[in-house]
Amino acid sequence: MRCIIKRRAEFSACYRYWLPELSPKENQQNFALKNREIVRGHNYVLYISIAGELDKYGMVLNFSGLKQVVKREVTDQLDGSIINEVWAEFQATPPATENLARVIWQRLVPNLPIVNIQLFENPKVWAEYEGNEMEAYITVANSFSAAHRLALDVLSLEENLEIYGKCGRPNGHGHNYHLEVTIKGQINSQTGTIVDFVALEKVVEELAVEPLDHTFLNKDIPYFAKVVPTAENIAAYIGYILLEPIRELGAELHKIKLSETPNNYCELYAADLGESSMESHSRAYVKTKDIGCALRASQYI
Ligand code: NI
Repeated sequence: MRCIIKRRAEFSACYRYWLPELSPKENQQNFALKNREIVRGHNYVLYISIAGELDKYGMVLNFSGLKQVVKREVTDQLDGSIINEVWAEFQATPPATENLARVIWQRLVPNLPIVNIQLFENPKVWAEYEGNEMEAYITVANSFSAAHRLALDVLSLEENLEIYGKCGRPNGHGHNYHLEVTIKGQINSQTGTIVDFVALEKVVEELAVEPLDHTFLNKDIPYFAKVVPTAENIAAYIGYILLEPIRELGAELHKIKLSETPNNYCELYAADLGESSMESHSRAYVKTKDIGCALRASQYI
């Protein structure tokens, strides 16, 4: 039987964003974040996923042995260090989080059957790497507060309450939505990054989070005048909004995860948006009025 196990580890380290081929002024312009120094540090959290068949002792791998390998190959070397100075891979290319995840993979793969490296630079930003040359993922997490009501205009109050439960009550209710946007792209061998991270954060904040924050979705966002603002449909809306701007940054939108509560969330892969556009999704909705509540609503239409 094949199984995946995960090992969590932590280390604190700093690094310098600095390309030797650029002038000091160009380095400052390219890498200084919000006018802060270009030496930065993080309390990194690392998750290592290992896949394999169970052995006769009921284990994929002995966790104690796994811990020792991670300690020897990664955390003992990086903890308390300036990353550029201790790992030669970063003398020419900065250890941006996605690039660091890639190099951690390279250091561990001779010793462990790893299938995924997840590296958090803080709880709101993390990279993933799965061994595909220069391909990596970056996720940015954000949150917004909004109200919504789940109901179809063509149905009576009683019918809406039957389908949507409390979510169909006439005057709406609110959520603190938690949004995770994951992009996929190629690590640039000069900068160590998939995209200009500041530009990515700006796109997510300005195009998705800020316009939805503190709104009544059904009334304030024209799209949701026609489309029921379920978590699924909000995720799709955000996906449509971000698809092209992320492409313009040189990466691909990979996944939207939207949590309404810690107990309810949806994950939508950009590939599943298919060739449809926001307009065609909306038109299909108006025509069939069954997206988001499928079977029951169709009885009434
Ligand atoms: Ni709700």
